[in-house]
Parts: sequence; structure tokens; C-alpha cells
Amino acid sequence: MIYLDNSATTQPDPQVTDVVKRAMEEYYGNPSSLHKLGVDAENVLKQARSVVAQALRCKPAEIIFTSGGTESNNTALKGVALQYQSRGKHIITSQIEHPSVYDVCRQLEDFGFRITYLPVDADGRVSLEDVKAAIQSDTILVSLMHVNNELGTLQPVKGVGEYLKQFPKILFHVDAVQSFGKMAIAPREYGIDLLSISAHKFHGPRGIGILYKREGIQLQPLLMGGGQEAGIRSGTENIPAIAGLAKAVRLLEQRGTQETVRMAAMISRLREGVAMIPGCVVNTPEYGIAPHILNFSVPGAKAEVLVHALEERGFFVSTKSACSSKLNEPSRVLMATGMDRARALSAVRISVSHQNTMEEIEQFVAAFGETVEQIRPYMNV
Ligand SMILES: Cc1ncc(COP(=O)(O)O)c(C=O)c1O
Repeated sequence: MIYLDNSATTQPDPQVTDVVKRAMEEYYGNPSSLHKLGVDAENVLKQARSVVAQALRCKPAEIIFTSGGTESNNTALKGVALQYQSRGKHIITSQIEHPSVYDVCRQLEDFGFRITYLPVDADGRVSLEDVKAAIQSDTILVSLMHVNNELGTLQPVKGVGEYLKQFPKILFHVDAVQSFGKMAIAPREYGIDLLSISAHKFHGPRGIGILYKREGIQLQPLLMGGGQEAGIRSGTENIPAIAGLAKAVRLLEQRGTQETVRMAAMISRLREGVAMIPGCVVNTPEYGIAPHILNFSVPGAKAEVLVHALEERGFFVSTKSACSSKLNEPSRVLMATGMDRARALSAVRISVSHQNTMEEIEQFVAAFGETVEQIRPYMNV
């Protein structure tokens, strides 16, 4: 079995699993309790917060633990919209955001917000000039992803953050779910006010994430209750998952950048191999991309057929993103690049992690070539 769907989720590192198990057994106290078990659990929480803060080069108080990327994105967008609506009701985002940003914006439209959905070029990239042109006198928020989850295209968040520094009343949210741990990101240096991260994308536990919130920014909470996480996210803290997340962050640091270089080499070999197969076209651009994602199509083939045929050969890959892959519609993201329907409907995404090897990529390229030959007679070309 060769797992090549790491953008959907990653296999938890065994060291993370150990930490989670140990925290469940030993630190089951409620961090809000006054007794020793509570204090011990609170110490685990504090330690985890400082590990994350160090990785993001920010203050521990700027870290809010959430249930994952979806909640971080919802909290950032709705939290800002509700808090700052008296300042303005205009929000800028893009046509290629994850549904946990895009559909939240759609929902905010029902509440009277005006949303600008910026277009992208053929590479799936938003232009800084378009961001500049979209700003209005009542813009309160710009929300852009760092790396697109389907194409792997890097967005100009550094340039946007730099530009927005002259508009202190416009907050900047970045969905860094696909980039954290693979590409440099430091919210303060980049002029980012809010940043979303999800642990299961970097070998941490499922159902735990981070929202970085710059000091001084107020958010209306989605969840009211006991006032945990500085009142932004009530609910008894998930200590085992938080401890596991911190372990996954530490392991990322230990692995260092050489693993990202290795991932980029695997993606580059994959690009070369896939491009040689007759009828295959690569959708991920060559430059300005993340190191772990390659998207390609076999126009005329059905992506689900490719995915299942590959599974029979022992390879696990995906069509568009995991959350929308069951819908029989071409991907909104790929269509936004101007791609034709047949190409978008046949798109397959490969995403690697440090757990993959070049040998596996060679095996995949060979198997993919055979798979395309196998289904060619049934293709609609
Ligand atoms: C770019 C992006 N944002 C947000 C999410 C949602 O994260 P989670 O699964 O932790 O809710 C994903 C997950 O695929 C993603 O790729």
C-alpha cells in the first residue's frame, strides 16, 4: 500500500500517538480544576501553547486551540465579521478558497456582508494588484489561503500582508492549513492578523487545530461557555490532542527543511513522469508552488475511475479535495483557473509527505502509465 493522499490527511506519527495515549492516561484532569490533576493538565496546555508560539514566532497568548482548520477559519471569518460589522461590511477573499472559508463567505452574504471573490490566473494564483483594486472604504477583512489544497499553488500572502500594513483597519486572515510545516510562515513578519492551522495535515491528531490571533484583535466567539482559550473558544480543552499537536510541531522542527527538499524532488520527478504519459496533462504550475502537491488530468477519463483503478494497484490518491470528492461536479478551484470541464473532471491529486520515498514515486509513475493504458479504450475522447 502506498499512501499518496497527504493533503487530505496524514498518518499520525507513532511518537504523536504515544504522547496522545500517555496524556489520556496521565493528564485527564480538567485544566480549569484547582487540584493537582487540574494543574498538571494546565501545565501540559501551557507547554503546548509555548511550543506552537515558538514555531510561529509569536506570543503564547496569541495561540487559540480549536478543533481544526475548519473551526479556525470559521472563527476567524465570522468572529471578525460580527465584531467589526459597525466598521464595514465588505470582505475580500478568492474563488479558490477551501469551503471552510468560501462557504462561510457565502453564508455571511445572507447576513448582509458584501464579498469580493477574487479571480485567479491559469496557475490558480490571485494577483496582488487585484487585491489592491478590490479594497473599498468599508473593507474589514482580506482572507486568502497560503497554499491551495488542490493545485499546490502558492498565493502572494507576503505581498498582500506587506501592502495591507498601510490599512490598519483591514484585518488579514491566512488559511495556512496546507502550508504550515512545509513553507516558511511567521504571521507577525508577514503582516498576518489571523492564521489557521490543522494538526492532522502534519502527522498530528485529527480534530485539533490552531488559530493565531494577533494581540489586540477582538473576535466574537462562535462558542460561548466556560470562557476557555481567552474566551474565544469555550469548551474543556482537548489536552491529549493538544499535547499530540505540540509533539507533531516538535517533530517538524527536528526534521527540518531537508525533508521539504526531498518532497519537492519527489513532486518534480512525478511531474516529469506523468508528463511523459500520452494523454496526461499536469495542472500544477511549475513555479511558485508547495513542495508536496501535484495535480494532473487525463482528459476524457473519469477521475473516480482513475482513483479506483490505482487503488486496485495499491496506490491511494484523490480527486480534488477530500471533502468535495464525492460530488460529481468539476472542482470549483480548477474551473476558476479557466480549465475546460473534461480536464477538470479527470483531475487527480497526489500529495506526498516525508514518509514517502522516491522509489514509491517511481512505482507510481509506472503504475499510472499502465492504468491510463488500461482505461484508454473506455475514455470519452
Ligand atoms: C486549505 C484547507 N483549509 C482548511 C481545511 C480544513 O481543515 P480541517 O480538516 O482540519 O477542518 C483543509 C482540509 O483539507 C484545507 O486543505
